[in-house]
Amino acid sequence: MRLITTIMKGGEDYMKKFGSKYGYFDEEAREYVITSPHTPRPWVNVICPGDWGVVLSQTGGGYSWRTHASLNAITRWSQDLVRDNWGKYVYVRDDCSGEIWSLAWMPVKRNPEHYRVRHGIGYSVIESKFARIASKLTITVPPNEALEVWLIELANEGNEDRELSLFTYFEWCLGASPDWHREFHRTFIETFVEHEINTIWAQKRFWEIPNNKGEAWNRSWDYTAFHSSSLEAVGFECDKEAFLGMYGDLSEPAAVKRGCLSNTHGKWTDAVGSIHMKVKIPAGQSRQLCFVLGAVEAGDEDEARALIAKYSDASEAADAVKRASQFWTDLLEPYKVRTPDEAFDLMQNTWLPYQAISGRIWGRTGYYQPGGAYGFRDQLQDSQVFLPLDPSYTAKQVKLHAAHQYTDGHVDHWWHPISEIGGGGLYSDDLLWLPFVTISYIKETGDYAFLDEEIPYRDGGTESIWKHCIKAIDLSLSRRSERGLPLILNGDWNDGMNAVGTGTRGESIWVAQFLCTILPDIAYLARHRGDERLAAKYEQAQRDLADAVNTHGWSADGGWYIRATCDDGTPIGDPSCKYGKVFLNPQVWAIISGIATGERRKSAWKAVIEHLSTDWGPILFAPAYAEPDERIGYLTRYAPGTRENGGRYTHAATWAIVAAVLMGDPLEAWRIYHNICPVRCGLSSDVYKAEPYVTPGNVAGPDSDRYGEAGWTWYTGSAAWLFRVGSEWLLGIRPEWDGLRVDPCIPSHWDGFYMKRQFRGATYEIHVHNPERVSSGVCKMTLDGGEVKGNLLPALGDGKAHRVEVTLGKRSEN
Ligand code: GLC
Repeated sequence: MRLITTIMKGGEDYMKKFGSKYGYFDEEAREYVITSPHTPRPWVNVICPGDWGVVLSQTGGGYSWRTHASLNAITRWSQDLVRDNWGKYVYVRDDCSGEIWSLAWMPVKRNPEHYRVRHGIGYSVIESKFARIASKLTITVPPNEALEVWLIELANEGNEDRELSLFTYFEWCLGASPDWHREFHRTFIETFVEHEINTIWAQKRFWEIPNNKGEAWNRSWDYTAFHSSSLEAVGFECDKEAFLGMYGDLSEPAAVKRGCLSNTHGKWTDAVGSIHMKVKIPAGQSRQLCFVLGAVEAGDEDEARALIAKYSDASEAADAVKRASQFWTDLLEPYKVRTPDEAFDLMQNTWLPYQAISGRIWGRTGYYQPGGAYGFRDQLQDSQVFLPLDPSYTAKQVKLHAAHQYTDGHVDHWWHPISEIGGGGLYSDDLLWLPFVTISYIKETGDYAFLDEEIPYRDGGTESIWKHCIKAIDLSLSRRSERGLPLILNGDWNDGMNAVGTGTRGESIWVAQFLCTILPDIAYLARHRGDERLAAKYEQAQRDLADAVNTHGWSADGGWYIRATCDDGTPIGDPSCKYGKVFLNPQVWAIISGIATGERRKSAWKAVIEHLSTDWGPILFAPAYAEPDERIGYLTRYAPGTRENGGRYTHAATWAIVAAVLMGDPLEAWRIYHNICPVRCGLSSDVYKAEPYVTPGNVAGPDSDRYGEAGWTWYTGSAAWLFRVGSEWLLGIRPEWDGLRVDPCIPSHWDGFYMKRQFRGATYEIHVHNPERVSSGVCKMTLDGGEVKGNLLPALGDGKAHRVEVTLGKRSEN
């Protein structure tokens, strides 16, 4: 069943796959094709195959970095979602008529006859046509090379030969961004031109981060940047004033109008990078050329020279695009689903894992949040995306985060790669994500030996990953109130509740539930390691916590679980509160942790449906705070209904799907899925505004006059979670200690679905059939033709592919 939107009045684009007036998915859904530069917000791609990265919007806006998007920005950028007017641009000048335009819509903003931006997996293409010149600018980051490639194809569609000039343009940043003291910073940047190899070199004698003696403001930038062209450069510019002209404008720079650059470079300029090339294109012919922008470590300039030499051949650029695309295809290949819901498939197979890996784990940045740091809880959760793809990356992430734990068990809330500066240890949940993700990794892989790997603590000493996890659990269990509930301290998962427990008395019901989710698995692992005493201790702790939540965390008046208590003992998430009467997380996690039973379980879920569900998914709580409450924290300071103040927080909304599945409520589970799926939200683009191919961090809730408006795309933990929830809870194929559970919860009209997935060293090709049109219940399962009792697939670990046939039906044996 193909879902193609057909809105008659909108023209052909509406007819395309999930089309709107701004774009559509291409046939393979591997590209989102934007058909107008005037999208309601910048619609971007975040291309980062590991180290070098690019954020690129549909107008040509964005920035580049290496390793860390805001400590090591290569190009200058200013966050402005309305003007989107900072980028790396290519101007075109017709050397006969003097007419100028740009390959992207920005910065000249001429109206092209044709404009398409295709954001793909690992590359973006900006196609444009102006003055009978058709252009195609492909931007990619090839894996394992510290640079980006701009491949340009120009076709002369007219009857006359053309002589064109191309001018690149961007501002060098070379370090921390934004450089808020620009006049100060620019004096440290030096540029050099090497005509023979058509290259501009750039260095900076200053970097904000401490040097190896720990001294601040006494270090050079560790890299040498370069920008070069494949064709002979006829001119260079490294001075902004010479390029733009004093009081000049990016839409008509003096140098481009004039048609030549001044070759200014050296020290103390306001450093920009611009290369001028001349291209003659006979009528009906085309030309291919390229530019690169990269940075090598200082001293490795030979490596840069080799790259410059390589990309002096534009066909290498075309090859780089292929390699980049293949890299991502290979990475995503081990996991595939095919269901009757095409939007679900394209998110699962392509866009969610790409967003989580490129945007969140490797890039750690976006348009709404230029980042670069690691959040302890954030990238650990994100690394769940690798579980069915290549769990060794999850292991790597766990080890990295374990190395940011201290001997007493606490962890850095965040830290910066490169400088290793970090801090903020008083969040009550951060450390618990370490055992949570470790458990998921072992359920996935069966790699129990992982627990014995030795990892250093940040403050010295080394212990096994198991000990790291135990320290996290024990420290959490020790941080409890007299009532036996976890202290919320400077905040829990909800960063915006940062004042609730700073007096070390406020409690978090959600952290109690989160612990209750983890403890049975930690007890299982303790027993597996032969430590019965420890296992019993954690099982007892789980019971105590569950009792404490059910004794002190239940609001009899509301019929739901409260969220937290403030230092002064007042509850948050209780009907007695003026705002924030009912919260999503404590209901959802009461169900996930299993500590809500019987009537309470039903009542908690009913509270979600009655008070929190909206057409854009369940909101975080209701009603939103209409005025700041300094006992609670900054979430109350956001505009009502936005972000953590009563908006739909996509990350938390994905957990609500798990609860719906556990409640045996497939209709609600899929309703939530559809309401948060960006593909469907994007069909109402003028309200929703954000990209239809990646998840947004938040969507404004009903207490906002921008209800339905999304923001904070790309840089959100919801991508990895939606991927995991879609796979493990909706399609219901999830690793457990003893095998791979097959327990779908699907729309009853589906005739079945297919999933290919790795599990413990073997490939499972799972074909689910639904002849009776039910939502759940496995009545028959075969593995390579042999019947399997129940619905748990054994781990085969033989490196081979296995065929699994599953029949759903009412006569479930399970
Ligand atoms: C942001 C933070 C994340 C936090 C969430 C909820 O996404 O990066 O760590 O859990 O907000 O406040």
